[in-house]
Amino acid sequence: MTPRTDAPPPLQVRDVTVRFAGLTALDQVSFTVAPGSAHAVIGPNGAGKSTCFNVLSGLYRPASGSVRLGGTELTRLAPHRIAALGVARTFQNIVTTQGTVADNLMLGRHALTRAGFAASALRLPRAVREQRDHLARAREIAELTGLGALFDTPVALLSYGDRKRVELARALCLEPRVLLLDEPVAGMNAGERVRMAEVVREIRAELGLSVVLVEHDMGLVMRLADEVTVLDFGRRIAHGTPDEVRRDPEVLRAYLGTERADGEDAA
Ligand SMILES: Nc1ncnc2c1ncn2[C@@H]1O[C@H](COP(=O)(O)OP(=O)(O)O)[C@@H](O)[C@H]1O
Ligand SMILES: [Mg+2]
Repeated sequence: MTPRTDAPPPLQVRDVTVRFAGLTALDQVSFTVAPGSAHAVIGPNGAGKSTCFNVLSGLYRPASGSVRLGGTELTRLAPHRIAALGVARTFQNIVTTQGTVADNLMLGRHALTRAGFAASALRLPRAVREQRDHLARAREIAELTGLGALFDTPVALLSYGDRKRVELARALCLEPRVLLLDEPVAGMNAGERVRMAEVVREIRAELGLSVVLVEHDMGLVMRLADEVTVLDFGRRIAHGTPDEVRRDPEVLRAYLGTERADGEDAA
């Protein structure tokens, strides 16, 4: 119920290979997300970024390779088990339309305590206290993500940018130690992008979690990421700080003709 205060364990991706009927979507990809760092995974369309996220969150099982959170192997665990270990994700294309901001955040809290629900339902006072504590924590997370004033507002009335932050806040309600953000600013206008970048920076500072970011917006990647892994046709073609990666000839080649490698908005 209380926020986790221990440092996140390193997330180690080692030689991960994913194949779909005749196509190698990820080819022996390795990278490590250092505790508390922001790690971006970038690359042209079809490079394998979403596939990589789906492996990290347990939706896809790789043909070979391993993903370890601290000492725990994740590749054979179901998505809800991975979430319970502290790896939460947002989805690129899902935007909430139902209920208030509070309702959506409480859904995140319920996922966290599902195991204890039957027990707490039998002991009413404790259940009431737990519910109150969850609501208080949901409100804190709303404040942290700039949604405090909108806590009781139906999400259907919110702007697109605010609704994307509700998604983020709901993931945070799982008290993750590693947060996977799938194109968090896709579809946002310039102002909303800046706001989202601020919020991601603030939650990292406040909660000390690791962030893995799949993102097309190179400006955002350059501003937020400590380290960048570049994929192209399922292979890791470059790795380093944003500055190292943006000067890498392989990266420039991979992006040439498809996207600008140095633009503020390459989406
Ligand atoms: N479920 C799937 N079945 C078959 N092929 C897939 C599937 N998911 C992704 N692919 C293929 O794998 C490659 C990598 O896709 P993806 O991970 O979505 O790339 P990115 O997110 O970098 O654009 C692409 O060629 C894509 O068509
Ligand atoms: Mg994708």
